[in-house]
Amino acid sequence: MNENQINTGLEPIRILLFSGSLSKDSLNGKLARVAASIIEKNGGIVDFASMSEFDTPSYNQDLEATGFYPPGAMELRKRILENDAFIISAPDYNGSVPGVLKNTIDWVSRFRPQPFKGKHAFLMSASPSVAGGNPGLWSLRNPLEKLGTNIFASMFSLASAHQAFSPDGNIKDHTITIRLKENLLGFMNAVEATKHYPYLKKAWAEFMDIKKDPLARWVEQSN
Ligand code: FNR
Repeated sequence: MNENQINTGLEPIRILLFSGSLSKDSLNGKLARVAASIIEKNGGIVDFASMSEFDTPSYNQDLEATGFYPPGAMELRKRILENDAFIISAPDYNGSVPGVLKNTIDWVSRFRPQPFKGKHAFLMSASPSVAGGNPGLWSLRNPLEKLGTNIFASMFSLASAHQAFSPDGNIKDHTITIRLKENLLGFMNAVEATKHYPYLKKAWAEFMDIKKDPLARWVEQSN
């Protein structure tokens, strides 16, 4: 929690954050580190991961029929379930989502219960181009939304990313940093509301002493 926050006594939100690139000097990895720092300064807990932890062999339904699940897919499932939300900083490959990332999403989508369902996600990209890799994010939205993930409406794309970072790893342009921060804080508020809102609904119903009211029953059921 930072000095500007009110201590609500509520558990901080936990966010899995990773770059969708296997490159060790990934621009998306750099953007992910800036985002992690902003989230931690604003009271969130970051579970920072790398795509290499979630790398998977090409999806093959015959392989799955033998009961095989790649360790990378099992790891991503575990990390999604351990956290309240996830953020991917994804490269744009030919106006679309990199195959390595889509392949892992496909494997993870085969687990039951299906882990993406009902989770919150924020999507970012970094690219040397003027579009900052934004077209690829629209392709990444499709499978995740199909799987029931709540994708935050705003997405963040860092243009000319090869020139955007200072030697200390921050984004040089203050205005762009502020925009990223505003996006992330908006996302964190949405995740926090979902995490704590059921408790607040229940507290409100108890305060109103409406336990016998049909609305109170709905509140109990929806917790
Ligand atoms: C790219 N790149 C790219 N960039 C972009 O803005 N639009 C695009 O359509 C593509 N297409 C594309 C295809 C392929 C196969 C590669 C390898 C690269 C460039 C890409 O954004 C750049 O290499 C980034 O640095 C990749 O992200 P990481 O790995 O640095 O995070």
